[in-house]
Amino acid sequence: MSGIYIHIPYCHKACNYCNFHFSTSMKDINKMIDSICLELEKKKHYLNNPIVETVYFGGGTPSLLNTDQLSSIFQSIQAHYTLSKTAEITLEANPEDISSNSLASWKAFGINRLSIGVQSFQDHYLKWMNRNHTSAESLNSIVLAKEYGFDNISIDLIYGLPNLDATAWRKEINTAIGLNITHVSTYCLTIEEKTALGNLVEKGLIDLNNEETIEQHMLILMEAMKDAGYEQYEISNFCKPTFESKHNSSYWKRTPYIGIGPGAHSYNGETRQYNISSNPLYIKYLNTPSFGSVYTVESLSEDDQYNEYILTRLRTKWGIKQEEIALFKSVNLLKINQLLDSFCQNGFIVKENDIYKLTTKGKLLADEITLRLMV
Ligand SMILES: C[S@@+](CC[C@H](N)C(=O)[O-])C[C@H]1O[C@@H](n2cnc3c(N)ncnc32)[C@H](O)[C@@H]1O
Repeated sequence: MSGIYIHIPYCHKACNYCNFHFSTSMKDINKMIDSICLELEKKKHYLNNPIVETVYFGGGTPSLLNTDQLSSIFQSIQAHYTLSKTAEITLEANPEDISSNSLASWKAFGINRLSIGVQSFQDHYLKWMNRNHTSAESLNSIVLAKEYGFDNISIDLIYGLPNLDATAWRKEINTAIGLNITHVSTYCLTIEEKTALGNLVEKGLIDLNNEETIEQHMLILMEAMKDAGYEQYEISNFCKPTFESKHNSSYWKRTPYIGIGPGAHSYNGETRQYNISSNPLYIKYLNTPSFGSVYTVESLSEDDQYNEYILTRLRTKWGIKQEEIALFKSVNLLKINQLLDSFCQNGFIVKENDIYKLTTKGKLLADEITLRLMV
C-alpha cells in the first residue's frame, strides 16, 4: 500500500495555536499549484509500489482551493500514478468552505473522506482561537456534507483549553457523538513558540490547565467514545468499526509514502526526505533545477528505525511485537524485554497474543513510556 500526502500551505486566517507551515497571503497560489503538479511528476518513481491506495490533502486549508486548482492536481495524479479504484481520498476541510457547490465538486473529483476542522463547539473558544467559523456553521456543514453523500467524515477537536472544565468537555464530546460521524481526531492543546498563543503564555497572560485536568479530559474522552461504539485505534483517534483513517494508519505502520508541497515529508523505509518549509523557496527550487534540491535527505539508521517503530506503533491498537523488535539487530532485546515486563507488572502495558499494548493507565503516560523504550 502506498500513499500520497499533498500539503496545501495556505489558510484564510492564522489560528492562535498553530505553527504548521502555512501562509495567509495567496498571491502565488497558482504558481504553487503548478509547482505541486511538477513535484508530483518528479517523484513518480519514488514509490516501489505503483498502486496508490490513499491520497490525503492536508494543510493549511486544502478546502480553500478552487475547482481549477484541484482539477490540476488530480490531473497530475492521474497522469503519473495508478490510483486504486478503492483509494481513500481525504480532504481537510474547514466549515466556512463547505457549501453545496464545493461538496458537489469534491464528490466529482472522487474525494470520499472529509476531515473537518471543528476544534470546538463553543463560539467563545472559536473566537479565542481566531477561527473563521461559528459552531452553528460547523454543525450545518456536517449535515450538508452528509446530504451530499459523504459518509466518511472525521472532525478535529481540541481539549485542554484554558478554563475548559470536565462538564464543558463532556458536552463537546457528546455533541460530536450526536453527529453520528465515522471518525473523531482529538488534540491536546500544545503551546507552540512563535504563535499568538505562545506569546500570551510567555507573557504569563494565560492560565493553562494542569496535568491532572488534562488526564481527566483524556479519561472522559476514552470512556465516552468507547460507550458510543467508537474504537480508540490510536491514542488520539477514534473510529466506528472499519473506519480507521487508512492514510494515517499507513504512517503508523511505516508504509512508504510521498509527501508533496512545502514542508511535506516522504518516506521509503530507509530514508526520509524533508521538503523546504518556505512557499517562495519551494516554488523557486522546483522551477529552477540548477538552484539545488527542494528537499534534504535523512538516512535512517537501525536505531532511528526502531525508535520510529516504538514512537508510532505503541500508540496504536496494533501495538508492538517481540518478533518485530527482534528485526532491529542493533537493539538490546534483553533490556527491552525487561522494560516491557516491568511495564506489564505495573499495569501500563498488557500482553495479548504476543502483542504489547498500552492499558488505559499506560495511555495517560504514553510519552514517558515511549521515551523509556527508545534507544
Ligand atoms: C494543521 S491543522 C489543519 C486543519 C485545518 N486547516 C483547520 O484549520 O482546522 C491540523 C489539526 O492540528 C490541530 N492542531 C494544530 N496545532 C495545534 C496545537 N498547537 N494544539 C493542539 N492541536 C493543534 C488542530 O486540531 C487542527 O485541526
